[in-house]
Amino acid sequence: MQLKAFFAGALLLLSQVHAAPLTAVVSGDADLKTLLALVASQPAIMGALGGFKGTLFAPTDKAFEAVIAAGFDPKKADDVARVLQYHVVPSLFPTASFKAGDTAFLTTLEGSEVKATQEGTVISIGSAAASPATVVRSLPFDDGVVHVIDAVLIPPANIVDVATAGKLTALLAALTKSGLASTVAGLKNVTILAPVDDAFAAIKSVADTLTVDQLKQVLLLHVVPGIVHSTDILAAKSIDAVPTLAGGKNTLKIVVDGENVLISGAKNDKPAKVVAPDIFAANMIVHVIDTVLLPDFADAVAASPAASSAASSAAPAASGAASAAASGSANASGAAKTTGGAAATSSPTAAASPKSAGIVAEVSALIVFAASALVL
Ligand SMILES: *[C@@H]1O[C@H](CO)[C@@H](O)[C@H](O)[C@H]1NC(C)=O
Ligand SMILES: *[C@@H]1O[C@H](CO)[C@@H](O)[C@H](O)[C@H]1NC(C)=O
Repeated sequence: MQLKAFFAGALLLLSQVHAAPLTAVVSGDADLKTLLALVASQPAIMGALGGFKGTLFAPTDKAFEAVIAAGFDPKKADDVARVLQYHVVPSLFPTASFKAGDTAFLTTLEGSEVKATQEGTVISIGSAAASPATVVRSLPFDDGVVHVIDAVLIPPANIVDVATAGKLTALLAALTKSGLASTVAGLKNVTILAPVDDAFAAIKSVADTLTVDQLKQVLLLHVVPGIVHSTDILAAKSIDAVPTLAGGKNTLKIVVDGENVLISGAKNDKPAKVVAPDIFAANMIVHVIDTVLLPDFADAVAASPAASSAASSAAPAASGAASAAASGSANASGAAKTTGGAAATSSPTAAASPKSAGIVAEVSALIVFAASALVL
């Protein structure tokens, strides 16, 4: 490891002297033949890299060999495009201030983020893959840097698939019951606070009395516009009146108590604690919490049954979400494929879903991992 770091340093110095165009740097490296071939098979990405300024994460041939053996199909053009875009960061990394012990979240061309950390002199890049990739050498080019990495970065799956993989069964059931599953899966640039099953079990007596519109209000209180990382929260120490997609006065209070991040809605006696931070889902970030956040229903936009039934009947645009929910499945892979650019700011107002889907209060082990969008 020390020797590797030494060589990485030596190569960095050497190549700083001999910076060159990006294509020359990549084709000049003996371990990047597969990457070159994949980029060559994608004219749009080839074009984008032409005048590219920023950071390219470049998996070695061995790294591609491993994901291909695990099921990644290099002939599936859409998958290849998404994976390649996930390796392109249109900004320079590391920045001058990045040092041992630091964490940085980098937005990729694909839209989702990767997480960079440094331990000693070794930089690791986290994605939806089970373990992070390690930067084995860095090759500056004229307008940026190529970091050669020992594993392929895997773009995250949509929130419904991530929640399914994480066994957040009660949350999925609530999303389905409220007709919000496909709407939420299509959101971009948001932060999802995802309660564990035990959290829903703890409020079962209250949850059973909620109307579908009140349930929607509760769920939308768990969606914060913008990407809020644990590092942002730790740096801020406390954030008041955090806006949510529940709208209006339905805000959250976030405080840092020692090592814990605590979040509460207007009606929480006890704040929710973040138990698993910074899980990637497509175009968003997820923090798993141990308590369901509760809004003040007096302030809730759709609290009155009269107002809400009027709102539902006046919302034909939401019928897609409603019928997805009516199918009784939280399978949103269809929704993910049709994700447009406009979903992020729309206020989801889907019609009522079948009464049969209750809030399932199963106690399940908390197994949270970021599911991959690709079948690996
Ligand atoms: C993401 O959302 C935040 C908060 O609404 C906003 O300030 C930011 O501009 C958005 N970023 C993008 C890329 O849309
Ligand atoms: C989800 O939908 C996809 C595509 O329609 C299908 O291949 C897959 O089997 C479905 N998964 C579940 C769990 O229903």
